[in-house]
Amino acid sequence: MERYSLLQRLLHWIIALMVFGLLAVGLTFMALEDEGMKSVFGEEITATLFKVHMTFGILLLVLMIVRIMLRFMQPTPAYNPPLVGIEALIGKGIHLLLYILLIGLPIGGWLATSAENMPVQFFNMTLPSLLAPNPELAHTLFEFHGLGGVAVLLLVLVHVAAALKHWLIMKDNMMNRISLP
Ligand code: HEM
Ligand code: HEM
Repeated sequence: MERYSLLQRLLHWIIALMVFGLLAVGLTFMALEDEGMKSVFGEEITATLFKVHMTFGILLLVLMIVRIMLRFMQPTPAYNPPLVGIEALIGKGIHLLLYILLIGLPIGGWLATSAENMPVQFFNMTLPSLLAPNPELAHTLFEFHGLGGVAVLLLVLVHVAAALKHWLIMKDNMMNRISLP
């Protein structure tokens, strides 16, 4: 077996698209802050962006849980030629960090939103709050949420650079392991 299963490949690309969208909206929040968002986009669009960010963040949490379960249930394809040395280690390390951050970030976002005493919106539902209102804790959690987002962005940049190097320069079968067709 040389490739991840179709379901794993599909999840990789759906999750990648969602992460790009979440980062785009999240980093806009970070750059403009609440007041800036409202003056650039207006109240209504700002509220919609918050809701879309939370909804897709929670969907991402669910998909990540499915993905990690599959990772344990289905064998991982062997590398051909085998990966050795420091590159193998860095590759594994980046994948592991991405898994950890993409589980931690949505949970952190949910906790931060709860502590901020804002409704945790999932489509048109409000999910249970996980923490009692605590503005100071909310501030700290959002700070970590933002740092986590920047860390994901940096890791994804390295990940994509490595993928492009394998695909376009080394021309091995790395991309084929995860590509859809
Ligand atoms: C936000 C975007 C992305 C995230 C979070 C992400 C995450 C991951 C993770 C965690 C794996 C490891 C799978 C496993 O072994 O369990 C993986 C594999 C892979 N990804 Fe991505 N990815 C993203 C975007 C991309 C993009 C844009 C490309 C191509 C340009 C790409 C190319 C690959 C390739 C070639 C593999 C297979 C590597 C291997 O088998 O060791 N990824 N990705
Ligand atoms: C992988 C999923 C997620 C990513 C990559 C992500 C990323 C980000 C980033 C980079 C920011 C900017 C941080 C800042 O303003 O300092 C942000 C803000 C925010 N995120 Fe997330 N987030 C995710 C999931 C969630 C979830 C699940 C929720 C809530 C249930 C959430 C709620 C929020 C809120 C309310 C803000 C605005 C904070 C503010 O007022 O500044 N996020 N997110």
